[in-house]
Amino acid sequence: MTAVILENSKGLTVDKESSLTVVRRRDLIPGKIVELRLSNSRGEKIPSWEPGAHIELTLPSGIVRQYSLCGDPSDDFYTIAVLREDNSRGGSIEVHDEIQEGTELMVRGPKNHFKLVPGNLTVFMAGGIGITPLLPMMRLLSKQGKPWVLHYGGKSLAALAYLDALQLMEDNEISIYLKNETRRIPVSDIVSTLSTDDAIYVCGPESMISEVEKVGAESGIRVCLERFGPAPGDKPEINGESFEVELARSAKVLTVPADTRLIDIVRTVVPSVPFSCEEGYCGSCETGVLEGVPDHRDSILSPQEKSNNDCMMICVGRSMTPRLVLDI
Ligand code: FES
Repeated sequence: MTAVILENSKGLTVDKESSLTVVRRRDLIPGKIVELRLSNSRGEKIPSWEPGAHIELTLPSGIVRQYSLCGDPSDDFYTIAVLREDNSRGGSIEVHDEIQEGTELMVRGPKNHFKLVPGNLTVFMAGGIGITPLLPMMRLLSKQGKPWVLHYGGKSLAALAYLDALQLMEDNEISIYLKNETRRIPVSDIVSTLSTDDAIYVCGPESMISEVEKVGAESGIRVCLERFGPAPGDKPEINGESFEVELARSAKVLTVPADTRLIDIVRTVVPSVPFSCEEGYCGSCETGVLEGVPDHRDSILSPQEKSNNDCMMICVGRSMTPRLVLDI
């Protein structure tokens, strides 16, 4: 199947799935982080992307997971790196144990909810595998001659991925913090040196993201972040008022009862509706909104994206208006 980017009546881009092949698999950190390259084995062009983007893989078991693109947008393949997490929901273990060179995977995207808007100085803060979405941003700024610095933390030097790639960017200030040397990224000290024209991009463990978010908000510095899970205490309430939903592509109109999720009602007509986390943080169930005002309850769309009201996460979102018309 070929990837197609369509435009709907509101001008939104709607991505289709495409089948891509794993053309290279290599251990970045043996047993811990594996890197995969995915390409179209029929020689067809893969959709373009910008730093911060991710793709969504449907793994052989059928589960769907999102991974940041960490290669170069000019590559004719996608590169992702996956950390093995033995206590996770299972996606990373399947990638490590089941995916080999030659494996075909269904891929959606790329999508981007972590776009780079550089500051006068752009400060990157990465914890562990959180380096992946930030690498293409650093490469781009280096190409453009724009200043950036990186603060990169991890358990030990041996646990940090892509140190080789970072060495190629040695003109920039790169600081490493290792837990086994009891060094943590000194977030407050770093932020205290910044001005409001600067920007911080952060990805990593929740404790680090929460700290940067808090310190950034206190100092008025723009913080852009990507989480691997919901924000703490951010378990969205999924019940609310009953409303109608119209599914534009089939012209079906359905009622969403007060105690039922929108996605569950949509599934009665479109069983293949994509989903993954079902908690409003992965972006998998993003759906275009053609009419009505969504009640956004996700933690992935930015305030600006939410106010555009042209897409929503239907696993947690509801409606502010009596009827929503969805592009599905
Ligand atoms: S399934 Fe993850 S945001 Fe809806």
